Amino acid sequence: MTKAVIIIGARKLAELVYLDNEKYKQYKIENFCVSQKYYKNDTFCDKPVVIFEDLIANNNAQQYAYLLAIGYSNFKAKEKIFNCLKKHNLDTINHINPTAHIGQHATLGTNNIIFGHAYIDHNVLIGDSNIIRPNCYIGHDTTIENNNYVAPACKIAGYNTIGSNCFIGIGTTTIDRETIEDDCVIGASSLLTKDTEKGGLYYGSPAVKKGAKK
Ligand SMILES: CC(C)(COP(=O)(O)OP(=O)(O)OC[C@H]1O[C@@H](n2cnc3c(N)ncnc32)[C@H](O)[C@@H]1OP(=O)(O)O)[C@@H](O)C(=O)NCCC(=O)NCCS
Repeated sequence: MTKAVIIIGARKLAELVYLDNEKYKQYKIENFCVSQKYYKNDTFCDKPVVIFEDLIANNNAQQYAYLLAIGYSNFKAKEKIFNCLKKHNLDTINHINPTAHIGQHATLGTNNIIFGHAYIDHNVLIGDSNIIRPNCYIGHDTTIENNNYVAPACKIAGYNTIGSNCFIGIGTTTIDRETIEDDCVIGASSLLTKDTEKGGLYYGSPAVKKGAKK
């Protein structure tokens, strides 16, 4: 990747990505960018912050690559920005901490962020815009679709399917051949032993449905 990168987001996740890149220097970060309605400060991590809408309208937008570093606060907003980048044919990158392991025949889409010591086993299929926090294990032959947030130290066993727009809390474990449907929240330290329903909130060991995602 020779293009300089613009990080979209200017909160904690954007800072974590910035610090990762400061340590491993995998690409040049040009600046940060936020939507007009979130614009508060003109700098973040000592870099300029620009407004997304202005950037998209600018003829120079193609000269950069983009990485969406927005956490789990608003999955739909993140999806919308990603679709806007695609619509404008703008390049996006994957941020993969060099200490993460990516197995044989594992495939990744784009705009994913994979933090340190994550272990992505063989034959894993990862779509777009997923965040996999440090020390996660993603079991062989598992599919993670799009726009999910997998908190630190999760252990996802083999042959799982995780849909889209899910939050999986810190330290969660799943047994093999589980399906987590779209829009689910799985609470911290859960042990998931059954498939989930779309949009459900689950937690506990074993995890049970406690309601709907807020
Ligand atoms: C599951 C979760 C989303 C629920 O949040 P919530 O709906 O606001 O729930 P509350 O905090 O009101 O708790 C409701 C009850 O569930 C219990 N509870 C909450 N989360 C729980 C969990 N993960 N496991 C077991 N019990 C849990 C609470 O102790 C409380 O019990 P009580 O009614 O006996 O007092 C949240 O607790 C959670 O686990 N978040 C994930 C945090 C995380 O992973 N952070 C890492 C980010 S990188």
